[in-house]
Amino acid sequence: MAQWSLTVDLERAEGGPLFARIAGALADDIARGRLHPGARLPGSRRLASELGVHRNTVVAAFEELVAQGWIRSDPSRGSFVCDDLPDRSSPALRHQTRGRSHVPRRTAYELGPDAWGEPAVSPPTRRIAMGGGMPDPRMAPRVLLARAYRRAMQQHGAPGLDYADSHGHHRLREALADMLSTTRAVAAEADDILITRGSQMALWLIGQVLADSESVVGVESFGYRPAWEALSLAGATLQPFEVDARGIDVDAIAGWLDAGQRLRALYLTPHHQYPTTATLAPERRARLLELARRHRFAIIEDDYDNEFHYEGRPVLPMASVDSAGSVIYVGTLSKVLAPGIRVGWVVAPRPLLRRMAALRSRIDRQGDHVLQAAVAELMEDGEVQRHVWRMKRSYAKRREVLCQALAAQLGERLHFDPPSGGMAMWVHAPGIDLRGWQRACAERGVDISIAAQYAHDGRQRPWLRLGFARATPEELRQGVDVMAETLGPRLR
Ligand SMILES: Cc1ncc(COP(=O)(O)O)c(C=O)c1O
Repeated sequence: MAQWSLTVDLERAEGGPLFARIAGALADDIARGRLHPGARLPGSRRLASELGVHRNTVVAAFEELVAQGWIRSDPSRGSFVCDDLPDRSSPALRHQTRGRSHVPRRTAYELGPDAWGEPAVSPPTRRIAMGGGMPDPRMAPRVLLARAYRRAMQQHGAPGLDYADSHGHHRLREALADMLSTTRAVAAEADDILITRGSQMALWLIGQVLADSESVVGVESFGYRPAWEALSLAGATLQPFEVDARGIDVDAIAGWLDAGQRLRALYLTPHHQYPTTATLAPERRARLLELARRHRFAIIEDDYDNEFHYEGRPVLPMASVDSAGSVIYVGTLSKVLAPGIRVGWVVAPRPLLRRMAALRSRIDRQGDHVLQAAVAELMEDGEVQRHVWRMKRSYAKRREVLCQALAAQLGERLHFDPPSGGMAMWVHAPGIDLRGWQRACAERGVDISIAAQYAHDGRQRPWLRLGFARATPEELRQGVDVMAETLGPRLR
C-alpha cells in the first residue's frame, strides 16, 4: 500500500536522547494501534527529512525498536511493525491495542435526542430479494461505466476535477434534455435541469426550498416512505390520500381543497404508483393539473422507473403537458444503471432550480462531475439505451416467471394482474397473517414486502408487493417455493 507521511509526536515523547524519543514515540503509536501489525514504516532517509534530524538518528531509533521487538527490518523491503508485539501480555496494553481505532466511542459533549434513527436505506441482506422492487445491480454495465469513467478522467484533465457548477455537468444535462424530449416529450433544455445524487437528494432539496412548518404536503396513502421522510424533514405536515387501481383519489383532494384546506405540494408516482403499480388515469391527471393551477400547489412527479414498461406504450409524464409551471419532475438512473450510481435529476422552472442548486452547494457543492461526464458519454453513444433494452428483456422474462410460479403454487390464495411495467407486482393476499408469513420467509432467506410497510398509518392490509427485477428466474422459483412451504401455518 502507498505510504502516507508519518507524523511522529516528539513533543509527547519522554526526554532522553533524540533517537530514544523517536523510538519511544513510534512504540507508543504501535501500542495505541495507530500503527498496526504489518504496517510498513517510512524509510529512514524520508523520516529523517520529515523530522528534520540526521538520518543516523532515525537508523538508531529503528535499531532500538528492533531490539525491543516492536519492528522487524528487512534490508531489501524496509521496516514493518511486528505481528507479535512485545508487551501484549500486559492487560492494559491488550485493551489499548485490540482494534486499530483510537476514536473514543462516546462524545464528550451532549448529543441531544436522536432525531434520525437508523439510515433510511440499507442494502437487502437476504439471499433472495423479492421485496420492494429494486433493480438487479448484478446486471449493471460495470465495464462500460468503468471505461467511460476512465475516459472522462483523461479527457477533462485537471479542470474536470475542479469545483464546478452546482447544477451538474453541462454535458449530462444536455444528454438528459435530449433523452427527455425524445422519449418522454418533456421538452427541456440543459438549463431546465438540475443534476442531483439520486431522487432522494432531489426530494430533500425540494422539501427544504418549498415547505416549512406551516406547509401541508399531500402524499399517496400507500406510498414511498423515503420521499415522505425527506419532505417532512422540512417541517411539512403530510396529508395522505387514498389510492385505488386508477391512482390517487382526486375527488378526495378536490374535497380537501374545497373545504378551504391548503396544499403546498402533492407528491405523486403517476406512471407506476409506488407500491400498487397503478397508472394514474388520464382524466385524473388532467384534473390534478387543473387543481394545482387553481390552488397554486406544486406537483412533485417522481418518475422513477419510466423506462420499464413491458406492454403498450409508456404513459407520458404529467410534466410533458404542464405549461403552467406546476410540475416538478424528478427522475433517477438508479433503476436504469444501478442504485449505487448516484445520479438523479429535476426538471422545473429555473427560479426553483436556482434555489435548489444554491442549497445543494451548501452540503454537496456539485456532485461527481467526472461520473456525470462518463454517464453523459454513455448516453450520447447510445450505450445507456442499449442497456435499457437488455434489462427490459430480462425483467420482462422475470416478471413472467414470477407470475407463472405464483399462479402454479399459490394461485388459490393470491390474486393479481401481471403489471404492465415497473419492477414489482401488487398482489391481493386475503385471509393470511402477512407479518408472520413475511417473518417465516425471511428465516428461510427470502425477502417479501407487505402492505403495512407502505401504509401511511402503518396498518396492515391484505396486499403484498413482490419484486421480480432483482432476482434471477431460478431465484424467483426458489422464492415462490419458500413462500408456498411457509404459507400453510399462516392462514388466519
Ligand atoms: C418511488 C421511488 N422513487 C425514487 C426511487 C429511487 O431513489 P434514488 O434515485 O434516490 O435511488 C425509488 C427506488 O426505489 C422509488 O421506488
